[in-house]
Amino acid sequence: MRAWSRAERGRGNRIGFVPTMGALHEGHLRLVDRARSRTNRVVLSAFVNPLQFAPSEDFAAYPRDLDRDRALAKARGVDVLFVPTTAAVYPAEPVVRVAPGPMGDVLEGAARPGHFQGVLTVVAKLLHIVEPDIAVFGRKDFQQATLVRRMAADLGFAAEIDVVPTVRELDGLALSSRNSYLNADERRAAIALSRALRTVEQAWRGGQIAAAALVERGLEVLRVPGVAPEYLALVDFDLRPVARADARTIVLLAARVGSTRLIDNVVLGDGLARDIPVRGG
Ligand code: PAJ
Repeated sequence: MRAWSRAERGRGNRIGFVPTMGALHEGHLRLVDRARSRTNRVVLSAFVNPLQFAPSEDFAAYPRDLDRDRALAKARGVDVLFVPTTAAVYPAEPVVRVAPGPMGDVLEGAARPGHFQGVLTVVAKLLHIVEPDIAVFGRKDFQQATLVRRMAADLGFAAEIDVVPTVRELDGLALSSRNSYLNADERRAAIALSRALRTVEQAWRGGQIAAAALVERGLEVLRVPGVAPEYLALVDFDLRPVARADARTIVLLAARVGSTRLIDNVVLGDGLARDIPVRGG
């Protein structure tokens, strides 16, 4: 993989990189579009990273369909689909890992201890293998994108980290590989997540800026049958809680729909309208 990247760069080409865990959907493919619009060679990795799953989580059940991923990646103009084996990425249990510090212990990190250490360790490794000019991530995983940006800045990675808005179904549900776990009833109930974000956004646009009141408005929408809210929080771009909301406040939430854990977020100043509807062209 690295030899290919170096040869391409030697020919004057710029390389864009989209790391994924496979089970590709339109959200991943929009990241490919962004990479293609900014570079002339695109690498997409599909690797279900065991290091970022807790023993109780869905590593074994995580959807895997390489034939489908290959077809989708090819149709979207991906030049290299990089699918390393676990043994290639982790020839031995890694002793040295990338620790995110306190920013990795809040929100998703509080619910999933060790998760972001697993994410940053594999992203660091993939960036070292692929050596891209630009690596593209989704805002859907806001905390992840923030931590990857900080890792790249703090540790002096050469790649620029680019972040693409969340791609959503027409009813608002953010695309996720885990949506495939939902049955029809759960799929209907899952609308509550984006609806809660929209409610908070509208309340804020209507003049409510007190974070506590906005959180309560959002939680009301999330407390419906079949949905178990885990958190709904208003934070700034450094993931610190805010008392008063402004245009740069992010509303982040996690909830279980049946046994499926889903996350979503909105940047208040952008609003859900700035996200990308999946069939919006
Ligand atoms: P995965 O969940 O496969 O997501 C790969 C990339 O696609 C991430 O940057 C994620 O934010 C982005 N993405 C997923 N759904 C999206 C949506 N609806 N709209 C926009 N972008 C979306 O995130 C991971 O994999 C892993 O943690 C990884 C970074 C690959 C490290 O293992």
